[in-house]
Amino acid sequence: MAHPYVLLSAAVSLDGFLDDTGPQRLLLSGPEDFDRVDEVRAASDAILVGAGTLRTDNPRLLVYSDERRAARVAAGLPEYPLKVTVSASGALDPDALFWHTGGEKAVYTTDSGAERLRGSLPADVEVVALGPDVDWRAVLAHLGDVKGVRRLMVEGGGRVHTQLLRQGLADELQLVVAPLFVGEPGAPRMFGPGAYPPGRMRLVETRPVGDVVLLRYVPTAPGTGALAAAADRRWLETACELAAQCPPSRTAFSVGAVVVAADGTELARGHSREGGDPVVHAEEAALAKLDPADPRLAGATVYSSLEPCARRASRPAPCARLILDAGVRRVVTAWREPDTFVRAADGNAVLTEAGADVVLLPQYEDLAKAPNAHLLSPSTRP
Ligand SMILES: NC(=O)c1ccc[n+]([C@@H]2O[C@H](COP(=O)([O-])OP(=O)(O)OC[C@H]3O[C@@H](n4cnc5c(N)ncnc54)[C@H](OP(=O)(O)O)[C@@H]3O)[C@@H](O)[C@H]2O)c1
Ligand SMILES: [Zn+2]
Repeated sequence: MAHPYVLLSAAVSLDGFLDDTGPQRLLLSGPEDFDRVDEVRAASDAILVGAGTLRTDNPRLLVYSDERRAARVAAGLPEYPLKVTVSASGALDPDALFWHTGGEKAVYTTDSGAERLRGSLPADVEVVALGPDVDWRAVLAHLGDVKGVRRLMVEGGGRVHTQLLRQGLADELQLVVAPLFVGEPGAPRMFGPGAYPPGRMRLVETRPVGDVVLLRYVPTAPGTGALAAAADRRWLETACELAAQCPPSRTAFSVGAVVVAADGTELARGHSREGGDPVVHAEEAALAKLDPADPRLAGATVYSSLEPCARRASRPAPCARLILDAGVRRVVTAWREPDTFVRAADGNAVLTEAGADVVLLPQYEDLAKAPNAHLLSPSTRP
């Protein structure tokens, strides 16, 4: 099950609204930002909007630049990204521009929505019925596995953005702030009230674009439940990237680890054989940088590209023990330790038996294995 990378994109007024209450769509961005959005669209495999936005804005969702479309075709991609909408009701206007412009289109809907849509949309539109409800994980799994979408740009509206962020399914938020006020109490907001991923998001870029400002954020705060899933994926990817920095060895794995506080603050990172120590492990190197009395360790998560070790000859305590002794009770990892150096090593069991929560994200296994290919038998290489 390969979910695409999910990028939420929207423009808001200074008072946080996506639109006003008038019948026309409120233009928040200027020409420079429309061009930036065109570039992001051209770099996406699919663009998704909610049925609400289709009904109010009647958008085309095209790539307008001839050069960008030509570049897509030259790269072997369809001229236009796949256009996707989501509707529970199936109350979609068959004359909307969405259906009659661009390339391939798909609708994710309920069984009753599909019944209602039957025969009304152009024949080339794929209608995917997902049962009594439309579950976002099912939508993303279908987009990833069946439609081959690796990068999904979501262009609103508020209800769609809110659900994806709150379910921990958004990997990035691209928010443009426009220098004007809406001031109407009934206007749609970017994010509605409710529970959100904990802690602060990480600001990865600010960019003036004409008279608006682009803010790019990624979720950072780990935690239990679906809310933090995107943060888990991002930090585990960072740990896997750190593994690639290890000095190569014929006798030990290359592993990366990051310790992250409950609010998303990075506490420490480490990798195997760091600082010229030929036997130091990644989790050990990261934890050694922290004060054992740091109160944030109790709520922290250790992200490690490889399952923490359960036994080792080079040190008195294996990493699973060091993690528990540090007070950490949550570990996210990409790859179960193979029998290469230690038989039936089961660090995950050591951790879970001691009451820690261990999450395995096997979609990162190949990334974790990549710097270790020379140590693996051909059948288990990435
Ligand atoms: N400023 C910007 O960047 C920007 C971008 C986009 C939109 N907007 C504005 O946002 C407003 C529209 O936002 P919105 O919140 O009303 O609508 P929306 O998020 O575009 O769409 C909501 C609709 O999508 C469907 N939907 C959403 N989640 C679903 C789920 N889990 N299962 C099944 N169906 C689901 C439902 O369709 P059905 O009702 O058919 O069941 C729902 O009514 C407009 O005013 C638009 O101008 C602004
Ligand atoms: Zn270890």
